[in-house]
Amino acid sequence: MSETKSLFPEKRMRRLRFSETLRNMVSETTLSPDDFIYPLFVVFGKNKKNEISSMPGIYQMSIDNAVRECKEVYELGIPAVILFGIPDHKDEVGSGAYDDNGIIQQAIKEIKKNVPGLVIVTDVCMCEYTSHGHCGIVEDAYVNNDKTLELLVKESVSHAKAGADIIAPSDMMDGRVAAIRKGLDDNGFINIPIMAYSAKYSSGFYGPFREAAESAPKFGNRKTYQMDYRNSNEAVEEVRLDIEEGADMVMVKPALSYMDVIRRVKEKFQMPTVAYNVSGEYSMVKAAAANGWIDHDSVMMEILYSIKRAGADMIITYFAKDASKILKGQK
Ligand code: PBG
Repeated sequence: MSETKSLFPEKRMRRLRFSETLRNMVSETTLSPDDFIYPLFVVFGKNKKNEISSMPGIYQMSIDNAVRECKEVYELGIPAVILFGIPDHKDEVGSGAYDDNGIIQQAIKEIKKNVPGLVIVTDVCMCEYTSHGHCGIVEDAYVNNDKTLELLVKESVSHAKAGADIIAPSDMMDGRVAAIRKGLDDNGFINIPIMAYSAKYSSGFYGPFREAAESAPKFGNRKTYQMDYRNSNEAVEEVRLDIEEGADMVMVKPALSYMDVIRRVKEKFQMPTVAYNVSGEYSMVKAAAANGWIDHDSVMMEILYSIKRAGADMIITYFAKDASKILKGQK
């Protein structure tokens, strides 16, 4: 048996933990407001700020209030928002999604006018706009992939026309990145990047979001298009295909139960990698903190740093404002 010699007592790991200054000097991971993208839910109307019961601190806002929120976000040093729209009517083909006068299209224009420096990412999907709540065209209770692509292209082009800076398809149809890239290019939007929700899992953690976006499926689930959480090779393949199709940034979603996937994707492709710290991950922290079971701010910061440590370059998070206030010493 080989002899294993302990380096102790010469070697002491605690030396570099002795003071806060030393700990800061040797820290490996940085976090700043410019790592964040803040999600906003936009509704028609004026002066609306509707609470979302499962997401304390997050609201559905009419465009006037969303613009006010965007100013605050921008002043905190957060560079981008991602917009989700709640239309005034839903139908089988989600026509509100690609209506040039739709909720997102109007919101983009107003935000651009008032906060021109803020980057606007738009979520491209059908589920908020369809009467059945699925992310595409439903035929015999199945989402038809290729017919859905046409609508996603229309939606993307409509967002770009309104002034969106980044298009983020979250539907998980096959071939959508290539189709959207072509649609954008054909319409002259050669410089609008695609942030692909590449490895998007079918997840129970989206529950609160579906209240916020009023987008829960009316029947069944999303398992025929979103990924199975038992797989990670499949995530690598999804990301590879999206990159080949022209994605400029790739995303792993959710974040916390998928840190291994974030790490694999970052190491393998070295692309700008986004993690979506989703609604359920936010609400769990809020609920436990409200009960006094955990300390809100320390758990929030630990989560956000951990997502960066796993390999994410950017984090879409409902905590963006709270965390930025802490990072800027305002709290
Ligand atoms: C739209 C979409 C969803 C989320 C982002 N885009 C919901 C879903 O796929 O059901 C979830 C975000 C969150 O939970 O915070 N398809």
